[in-house]
Amino acid sequence: MRVCVLMRLRRAKVCSAARRTGEGGEEMKKVVYSAVQPTSQLTLGNYLGAVNNWLKLQQDESKERIFAVADLHSLTIRREAREVRENTLSLLAQFLAFGLDEKRNIIYVQSHVPAHTQLAWILNCYTYVGEMSRMTQFKDKSAKHADNVNMGLMDYPVLMAADILLYDTDLVPVGVDQVQHLEIARDIAIRFNNIYGETFKVPEALLGRAGAKIMSLTDPTAKMSKSDPNPMGRINVLDSEADIVKKFKRAVTDSESVIAYDPEKKPGVSNLLAILAAAKGTIPEQEAGECEGLMYGHLKLRAAEAVSAMLRPVRERYEALIKDEGYLLEVAREGAEKAAAIAEKTLKRAGAAVGLLQG
Ligand code: TRP
Repeated sequence: MRVCVLMRLRRAKVCSAARRTGEGGEEMKKVVYSAVQPTSQLTLGNYLGAVNNWLKLQQDESKERIFAVADLHSLTIRREAREVRENTLSLLAQFLAFGLDEKRNIIYVQSHVPAHTQLAWILNCYTYVGEMSRMTQFKDKSAKHADNVNMGLMDYPVLMAADILLYDTDLVPVGVDQVQHLEIARDIAIRFNNIYGETFKVPEALLGRAGAKIMSLTDPTAKMSKSDPNPMGRINVLDSEADIVKKFKRAVTDSESVIAYDPEKKPGVSNLLAILAAAKGTIPEQEAGECEGLMYGHLKLRAAEAVSAMLRPVRERYEALIKDEGYLLEVAREGAEKAAAIAEKTLKRAGAAVGLLQG
């Protein structure tokens, strides 16, 4: 029996290796997959962390990149229908405004590719209630939205696993808060492969550089987060220049008056230096040196100016794009077509593995 399983695994490996090479036998590109929920605007923290990384990856010809607007995931928290629709279009426009090129990446909306929910159902049958109920984010969100602990909230990581596994993804750029979800995607893939032979590629996390961590302006010990209830703590990528200046002016510092980079002892000032450095492409220590003798107010203005200069072109592109719904829908349609072509093959493979009749 053991030998049998081993043989089956070995045979499956050969198949899947064949899958990983192109028709002419050339090596296939590594697939990088990322998705964002269309909940609210991305923050400066997202921009300096995730978006900058995506733009770098876009230059890397050895990789194929797929970016999704995870609209189905956003339904797990109750929202107005109009808000879901507007946020989806907005995130799509933000992706393009950042400089992600729809010709060089696959950019699409999750619900436009039905294979996601179909694979999620199959994977549900190989995922245990116990492991889902132990997920940190499920526990946090159930506590926060105690009046709406719906099945989707619990099943969220399984849909995310389907997102990733459908594209034979090699790498998933993730922040620390998503590491547990990626782990479960790997566990589900490995579990499935152990039963049915190698069907899914087991993805790996691509962790961002630790240096790019941007903290809240009002509480520099907490990450700058889209869901921070205090709007003054975060800069949104589409904030006006006046708002950017206002938020930096009110940023928390400390009771000393010396500008130095020391995240432990001076978290507020160090966060401002880190933001200034990231916006200019330098390092915080260098900015601290250049601020010698200046007051906190000067540092705040410098940071506000650098961030405004970085985000101005993004905001201008966004304003033009968001007016052109027809164009955005066309980008989404073309992206979904490309995504579905890949996703449907994987869905078929998984369906055949478990014994679904192939029509
Ligand atoms: N859960 C992710 C977040 O909130 C969004 C997401 C959905 C995702 N599907 C994904 C991220 C697949 C990476 C890969 O940030």
